[in-house]
Amino acid sequence: MKLAMKQFSQLILVCVNEKENGRDCCAKKLSLEFYQTLKTAVAEFDPTIRVAKTSCLGNCASGAVMAIMPKNVYLGDVTETDIPEIIKMLA
Ligand code: FES
Repeated sequence: MKLAMKQFSQLILVCVNEKENGRDCCAKKLSLEFYQTLKTAVAEFDPTIRVAKTSCLGNCASGAVMAIMPKNVYLGDVTETDIPEIIKMLA
């Protein structure tokens, strides 16, 4: 084992999971579109912060869901209108 080539100051995980049979999931709440807009905004704010797509974070009924690590903050019902407030949380 060795340290990965790149180390990031924070890691944001955005759930883009899609479930079958119409069950609650973040993909139904436009999380992929949210992820793409958030990724661009965060890169402009601080390129040392990584934004990554992930699968289910276990909060499906609160979708779209994201997590900020290492702050250990989980946010639900996020939309693109929340991005300015999310950026403030990263400072
Ligand atoms: S599908 Fe996103 S938290 Fe479960």
